[in-house]
Amino acid sequence: MAKWKQVLILSSIILIPILMGGGLFAWFKISATRHAALWQGVDISDWAPLESAEELARGARIYRQSCQTCHGVDGVGIIGPPLTDPKWRDSLGFPAMVNIVLSGVEKTPMPAWKGSMEPESLHVVASFAWSLSAPAE
Ligand code: HEC
Repeated sequence: MAKWKQVLILSSIILIPILMGGGLFAWFKISATRHAALWQGVDISDWAPLESAEELARGARIYRQSCQTCHGVDGVGIIGPPLTDPKWRDSLGFPAMVNIVLSGVEKTPMPAWKGSMEPESLHVVASFAWSLSAPAE
């Protein structure tokens, strides 16, 4: 094999992962920055659970993608705690729950979704998660 071909192959083997890694990093960075901008000035303290069938269906779709691996189908709980227990829901209140989803829980697997979810999506998915536990009678 010609020397220049070896150089070409070797340098692609080295360069391709670097470029891909750099691209991925830049993409995450851009995504996080964009989401941070979307959250600027958003006040969740007066958020109430959304209740329309359309909003809950959208929330359910996001739940299946982002939450179900840890919280289980219908919130029965796997790695994450069950979301079906009315006790936590009643003691927490909706804005505090939204805040958990927004900021995550430090030193646990519960991630912060602020950097990857826009306010509208987070509101519908939190509303869906909220709907998984019926309020205590
Ligand atoms: C990688 C696993 C994982 C994913 C994905 C995840 N969670 Fe969690 N979640 C956890 C864990 C673990 C906890 C418990 C944290 C603790 O010990 O306080 C938790 C806690 C919570 C709590 C607080 C419940 C309570 O009993 O206090 C809520 C609400 C919640 N998650 C909602 C969500 C929603 C909504 C999503 C999707 C947008 C999601 N989680 C995605 C692992 C996860």
